[in-house]
Amino acid sequence: MTAPIISLKDIDVTFTPKGKTIHAVQDVSIDVQKGDIYGIVGYSGAGKSTLVRTVNLLQEPTSGSVTINGETFFSKTNDGAATKIKGKELKEKRRKIGMIFQHFNLLNERTVEENVLFALENNKEKEKIKKEKVAELLELVDLSDRAKQYPSQLSGGQKQRVAIARALANDPEILISDEATSALDPKTTRQILDLLKKLNKQYGLTVLLITHEMEAVKAIADKVAVMQNGRVLEKGSTLDIFTKPQAELTKEFIATATNQDQAIQAITDSETVKNLPAGQTFAELKYTGNSTNEPLITSLYEQFGVVANILYGNIEVLQGTEVGSLLVILSSEKDNLDDALAFLASQNVTVNILKGAQA
Ligand SMILES: Nc1ncnc2c1ncn2[C@@H]1O[C@H](COP(=O)(O)OP(=O)(O)OP(=O)(O)O)[C@@H](O)[C@H]1O
Ligand SMILES: [Mg+2]
Repeated sequence: MTAPIISLKDIDVTFTPKGKTIHAVQDVSIDVQKGDIYGIVGYSGAGKSTLVRTVNLLQEPTSGSVTINGETFFSKTNDGAATKIKGKELKEKRRKIGMIFQHFNLLNERTVEENVLFALENNKEKEKIKKEKVAELLELVDLSDRAKQYPSQLSGGQKQRVAIARALANDPEILISDEATSALDPKTTRQILDLLKKLNKQYGLTVLLITHEMEAVKAIADKVAVMQNGRVLEKGSTLDIFTKPQAELTKEFIATATNQDQAIQAITDSETVKNLPAGQTFAELKYTGNSTNEPLITSLYEQFGVVANILYGNIEVLQGTEVGSLLVILSSEKDNLDDALAFLASQNVTVNILKGAQA
């Protein structure tokens, strides 16, 4: 594996307002590969913003190291020995890391065009060249027709697209998106996420996607870290985290992103399941990849005489892989059911028995 574009090692950030100690980030290590969309998810106060602000040293870690593209931006051990980039060098490096935020942070008294141009104020190119660059960027975010308008004349989604154009003005390799879709409706959120994905695909832009919505992670992230109380509870590929979540908090986030819990609840409360006859089993079958439901259900009957009545089915595609979930009522002789469950396990289907045999 190539060296990560972002490597955060053993990051601690401690604040001491009025002598009180707040461990905003504790012992966090994250490696982000070039071209990744890396999600960082957690509730308010988890430490997400503080952590990502260490990437461009808007926040200095209390200890730990920040390495970008193999270059040490910051390193400080617990005994205090430190190295860090600063001054002009830091400013230049920062320009290669774009940022977008929940509240867009546009200059209201400047036009769309001027907002983007502002990001190029340190650029020594001629004005004409810079204006061409701005026009290109506005084209990229599909706002060419709004160049002369002011932020107040734009929708939230359009404002965020101006912010994205501005963040890309200095050709960054990394874009940090800190709750960039939190103030937007679901449809606009999707448009912004799709735009980030497009930039990632077309330009290999590495994206750090900070969010409290697992839905956003599910939509575009390759990897995800789940944060709580300043710590990373778990991290991994989006597919692994969604299909095999370990931490309770992760399960909670996933449930809200998939509405799965609501479906299970509604069906569990239904008359069919409430009045489940003896000998029948209400279960959730989960699978990843090629084991599609139909052959599976057919095999259950043909090989084991187990009839599966499907009450609910959901298939999602995560990172190009199918993730399926079925709520079924299984009816059979008890012995056959055990064999059938063993068969399902051998096919990498996870079975959760919700009611009935062995529940
Ligand atoms: N400059 C600061 N001084 C003191 N405490 C701070 C400072 N910045 C952040 N904190 C505290 O650090 C903790 C983590 O805050 P942070 O803003 O990183 O969380 P977050 O996950 O980004 O939350 P949100 O989802 O609300 O943006 C919080 O308890 C916060 O109050
Ligand atoms: Mg935050």
